[in-house]
Amino acid sequence: TEMELPPRPTLFDFHGVSMTKYFTDNWENIQSFKARPDDILIATYPKAGTTWVSYILDLLYFGETDCRSSVPLQERVPFLEISVPSRPKGKDLADQLPTAPRLIKTHLPVQFVPKSFWEQRSRVVYVARNAKDSAVSYFHFGRMNRVQPEPGDWSCFLQNFMQGKMVFGSWYEHVNTWWDQKQTYSNLHYMFYEDLIEDSGQEISRLCCFLGLSPTAEQRELVQTKVTFDNMKQNKITNFSTVPMMNQSISPFMRKGRVGDWKNHFTVSQNEQFEEDYQNKMKNSALVFRNEI
Ligand code: A3P
Repeated sequence: TEMELPPRPTLFDFHGVSMTKYFTDNWENIQSFKARPDDILIATYPKAGTTWVSYILDLLYFGETDCRSSVPLQERVPFLEISVPSRPKGKDLADQLPTAPRLIKTHLPVQFVPKSFWEQRSRVVYVARNAKDSAVSYFHFGRMNRVQPEPGDWSCFLQNFMQGKMVFGSWYEHVNTWWDQKQTYSNLHYMFYEDLIEDSGQEISRLCCFLGLSPTAEQRELVQTKVTFDNMKQNKITNFSTVPMMNQSISPFMRKGRVGDWKNHFTVSQNEQFEEDYQNKMKNSALVFRNEI
């Protein structure tokens, strides 16, 4: 029941980034995480398609065998920095993962990633999604997920998004500093949600190329079928229906899965203000995002 659930957190400044206690309480342990050379870190700003790419990688490596079929994705691919009272800590789940490679999820800004990942030269898959759809998806996620601060109303949330007053900080800084990291760290594959929507087969091929995988035609077919939006929405493994902190009657975790849903949320004047601010914040960025397809 509601009573037993931990309270919604508040944002505070953590080394220059907005964070909450649920992602900073276990900080020393997270920072001393012992990465392995074959670990694969899936890194994103929240709502960029983390779950989608996590399931793609999980299926490419391990398939869907009987003994795994009851293990939800959040246990197969632990969320490194999560630390919610009376729930297993992500760092401990990651430590205990029996698989090789270990697939590990993070939303940390690049400067907060435990050093051992870089030292061990672990592979990293970063997924980015356009700012407007990320903001919309994050808003609905805040409504349904008590691990998030109260999102407030949409216009207030959008102002906060533009100011980086979000858990894990500024979208603008996140996507750009991770892009910078790719320029010096060659084991990083940077991909886009919009490309996955447009041609998931091609993006899966690129992932396989980066990871050195050569799945058979049947394996590929299985992965492609399993990871469609509709199938992942129906699948208890991937739809987070077992997570008590989420109230899916407010908004389902697998919500829309489209490019351009921002058009159903932004008013004309919100869009103008957002665009102007965006150009300003992104003027030195090499990144080009698509807001529609
Ligand atoms: P929407 O809220 O726009 O629907 P994350 O996993 O990083 O939290 O991202 C969640 C977003 O990815 C949600 O976006 C969700 O619907 C979308 N998503 C998850 N699986 C998907 C899939 N197979 N195809 C398309 N979108 C997917």
